[in-house]
Amino acid sequence: MTQHTIDPESQRRRVVLITGASGGLGKATVDQFESRGWSVAATARDPHNLNQWKGASNILGVHLDLSDHASIDNAVADVEERFGRIDVLVNNAGSGLAGSLEAMSLPALQKHFEANVVGTLAVTKAVLPGMRRRRAGAIVNVTSIAGRLGLPFMAPYVMAKFALEGMAESLRYELAPFGIKVRLVEPSGIRTNFGHAWISNAPYEHEIAALQQHMAHGMNKAMPPEKVARVVYRASVSTGPAFRFPTHDARALLLIKALLPDPIMQSLMRASLLKARPS
Ligand SMILES: NC(=O)c1ccc[n+]([C@@H]2O[C@H](COP(=O)([O-])OP(=O)(O)OC[C@H]3O[C@@H](n4cnc5c(N)ncnc54)[C@H](OP(=O)(O)O)[C@@H]3O)[C@@H](O)[C@H]2O)c1
Repeated sequence: MTQHTIDPESQRRRVVLITGASGGLGKATVDQFESRGWSVAATARDPHNLNQWKGASNILGVHLDLSDHASIDNAVADVEERFGRIDVLVNNAGSGLAGSLEAMSLPALQKHFEANVVGTLAVTKAVLPGMRRRRAGAIVNVTSIAGRLGLPFMAPYVMAKFALEGMAESLRYELAPFGIKVRLVEPSGIRTNFGHAWISNAPYEHEIAALQQHMAHGMNKAMPPEKVARVVYRASVSTGPAFRFPTHDARALLLIKALLPDPIMQSLMRASLLKARPS
């Protein structure tokens, strides 16, 4: 643990810890909170990425790797020592793993779950004692439309996001008596460098190629991270009863899913995701 002195000015500000802040949505979320006068703990798993916040007065760069529980406990202890408390945790860090489930190696799947699900829970567990003592706080999980809807060849990602949704849905009952809110942010596409580690698997290669083509095409229409960061901010400070905060494109798809009979939804999804486009 690094020794910090608590700056009295920074103690007056609200404090957010954002995981996976090296780039993409996490970085945009750091900027969003910072511009609104918060003290921000921005975490990155690669220590080189912490340099971008050197010298920033209200942003503390902290090393945190979801696969390394000691780094999680140290990061939370450092932030509490420096800023005095954590008001909001944004569980943003996440990675992708895709391919057919048949070909997926179980150790690869376990590693994916270990980081994305168990690691996210470990960060949450680490901030809870402080929040419970103060009887206030908010936990915000960035999931995805893939946390609400099965997608072909993306099952590892879908499974992990469903797990984070289930974790949040259960936790909210446990934490409500302590004044701690739990929220979900459910984006559809975000224009970032987010990518899936694809495993290759021969029997499905045509459909996988079509899906990859669809995803590349979809990135052009994806939301900029700054816009999604505003949704994360809204979810973090909301005092109303809303629990899920889908982005507007995700909301449209969820509405279609709710209205259509399942076989029709399946055919639509198959036609849109797995049919090769004319080049
Ligand atoms: N992009 C999309 O279309 C999209 C759509 C819906 C939801 N999301 C979700 O949005 C969140 C942010 O993703 P993004 O689009 O901003 O992509 P991104 O730029 O790749 O950001 C992902 C962040 O998570 C970090 N990360 C990955 N594995 C980690 C680990 N084991 N420990 C600590 N940090 C780890 C990455 O760190 P490194 O820089 O070290 O890799 C990076 O900072 C993710 O949860 C993602 O699932 C993305």
